[in-house]
Amino acid sequence: DKMIPDKIDYVFKVVVIGDSAVGKSQILSRFTKNEFCFDSKSTIGVEFQTRTVTINSKIIKAQIWDTAGQERYRAVTSAYYRGALGAVVVYDITKRQSFDHVARGVEELRAHADSSIRIILIGNKSDLVDMWAVSAEDVVEFAEDQGLFFSEASALNGDNVDTAFFRLLQEIY
Ligand code: GTP
Ligand code: MG
Repeated sequence: DKMIPDKIDYVFKVVVIGDSAVGKSQILSRFTKNEFCFDSKSTIGVEFQTRTVTINSKIIKAQIWDTAGQERYRAVTSAYYRGALGAVVVYDITKRQSFDHVARGVEELRAHADSSIRIILIGNKSDLVDMWAVSAEDVVEFAEDQGLFFSEASALNGDNVDTAFFRLLQEIY
């Protein structure tokens, strides 16, 4: 029997940004394939992964773009942001510097992406609680100021990954 694919109602482009090694690619693998890889390689250029979900009885294909956090491999141009309806800004809760760079990332999104873009902030690696280096209060304040939904999450154990993405897709919808 031939498989008849479900009809897709909407395709939502979502971009992921953040410093190198914060876990952008692993968050995507967790969300799209429910997989995690311990020896993840740095992304070079742009890659994308998709997952089709149902929101309010509509079939939505999330097309999530991932690029390198490393400056020399970055391919963030206007094409990366073009048509993006949502963005996930990721930092690593064990690396203060990765949070310090979040404001710049959000500014870049506001400058280059559509003004209606929905942005969520993820503090990844919440499984490494004993290595915590970013105070949640600072982040909550920043997120409130910027009007961003914020969640700590872990690509490793999957905590809050689906919740954060569904929240974003729901907001776009
Ligand atoms: P670039 O592609 O260079 O920009 O990095 P990236 O942000 O895509 O990071 P990547 O997903 O490749 O993960 C970097 C490292 O962090 C890898 O060694 C992962 O195994 C590890 N990592 C990612 N997510 C988590 C997490 O939730 N918990 C822990 N403990 N480690 C993680
Ligand atoms: Mg990557």
